[in-house]
Amino acid sequence: MLAPSPWTTPHPSPPPAYISSPPPAFPPQEDLVPTVASLSDIYSATDIPHQSVRWSSLQERFRALYDRDISFVARTPGRVNLIGEHIDYSWFPVLPMAIPHDVLVAVAIIPSTDPASDGRIILSNVQAVKYPTRVFSTDDFTDPFFAIPTSQHIDWSAYFLAGLKGALTFSRLCATDASPLPTMRILVDGEVPTCAGLSASSALVCSSLLAVLSTITTPIIEKSFLVNSAVISERALGVNSGGMDQAASVFAVRDHALLIDFRPLVSAKPVRVLDTVPRLCFVVANSLVSVSNRTETGPDRYNIRFVETTLAAEILAREYSVGRLEIRDGFGGTLRGFYDKICERNGWTMGDRESEERAVKEVVVKIRQTFSKDKYSLDEIAKMLGISTEDMLRKYTTRFPIRAKYLNLRDRAEHVIEESFRCKCFSSLLASLTTNLRALSASESTPYFDALGELMNASQQSGSSKFECSCPEINELCRIAQKYGASGSRITGTGWGGCIISLVRADRVNDVIDGLKREYYASRHPEISQINDVVFPITPANGAVLSKVNGFQL
Ligand code: GLA
Repeated sequence: MLAPSPWTTPHPSPPPAYISSPPPAFPPQEDLVPTVASLSDIYSATDIPHQSVRWSSLQERFRALYDRDISFVARTPGRVNLIGEHIDYSWFPVLPMAIPHDVLVAVAIIPSTDPASDGRIILSNVQAVKYPTRVFSTDDFTDPFFAIPTSQHIDWSAYFLAGLKGALTFSRLCATDASPLPTMRILVDGEVPTCAGLSASSALVCSSLLAVLSTITTPIIEKSFLVNSAVISERALGVNSGGMDQAASVFAVRDHALLIDFRPLVSAKPVRVLDTVPRLCFVVANSLVSVSNRTETGPDRYNIRFVETTLAAEILAREYSVGRLEIRDGFGGTLRGFYDKICERNGWTMGDRESEERAVKEVVVKIRQTFSKDKYSLDEIAKMLGISTEDMLRKYTTRFPIRAKYLNLRDRAEHVIEESFRCKCFSSLLASLTTNLRALSASESTPYFDALGELMNASQQSGSSKFECSCPEINELCRIAQKYGASGSRITGTGWGGCIISLVRADRVNDVIDGLKREYYASRHPEISQINDVVFPITPANGAVLSKVNGFQL
């Protein structure tokens, strides 16, 4: 049975992205961040008992803390990436889904007529000891270009401030009628595990941005606008990002993964992952190797990969004279830019898996011919670009600094090109599986599970050897998950620690979880009391919402 090709499946027309022009007067409903009226609009039936307790406790704590009711809650989830790792900043599509763990930013707006209006924004967290209360004056933010302290240790409030800064900047650019910041009382409740590569910080930036935007502009906020603004907001923390986390958090649809594309504009195509027979299940396992925040580790890790892939694209474009590449975010060309151009020039027409596979192989050959070594000094790279080392460093390493003497352009570029193909194959298989599988028996479905699993394993292999973003603990987790029946396992998110995601047949989920508990956690982390918080099955969750608390159904 041939899987429908993601290259021929009609893609929904991308929503309009605008940074410098106002939103259209009446965007279609599905393009807007929804305002919901009940927990069942947000969560699945199995999550509602827990969420109901959590939301009512949030309301009580808010009242106890601030002596008033919540005006509204901005909520955005974390995400897990199924496949397509470290390719979003090369503009290739990725396939994440939102997880049920989310961040709630509860807000009370105090109007200037209220005697309690004191020009302060009080920011508290339900985990008050870990995340102490911070108090700001609205006067601190009269200039939307205010600086956020991002030295060695980054305070939790910096993520809120990044969202606030983004809201002020974009409301100035887009809305002529933005109001000044009012007095606000805020209580944050985040359940996305931190330092686990599940995008806890992006979820906090995104929900803070959504909260402040809807305070100073209007609750009618276009999803693509929120995504673009959130990506730029995070840069205020010195963090570069490809946009996957924010897009997953905002566009997510319950029971669906999302095929997120970044060209010509950011857009998301939901791919249903439930309803298959046997069911596709996903298990997340946290290595408990902390993915430290990227403001601190970026110069040694994420930023280097960003620079390596950009320089590889620029050099390949020069070497094969494909013309100037479109510049991503004022930074440099992308590997997708090069790939599209070289395919077009050689007439490698796309539209089916075979021709795309051929094109990927051809491009990999070109990468190997161009970069004969795995390590180049900065001087050598500048020479290949035809510019001085000083100019190269100024252009590519000023905005997001790196600490490196040598760069590996060959292996990074190969990973990106091959991973993009794996991601397309995976989403195409998934789409055909969920469309056709109802009619298939369990044994007929096995080749699908095997094929999806193999793609995930190949992704892990490449992430580990070519992109070097894995670590021994992650490799060990993947090995154990497969030993106990996972069809495929791989690192998810930024990497160098954090979580793995495994694809598991429903009847093997308990085996895999028990195997991981016995062979990884019992020996390495006997101290863990809440084991179900570090290894758990997940189903895809809904994306960003606003909820007015008055009349909200708990
Ligand atoms: C981080 C970034 C994303 C993406 C992943 C790796 O999560 O924020 O944009 O690049 O790493 O796939």
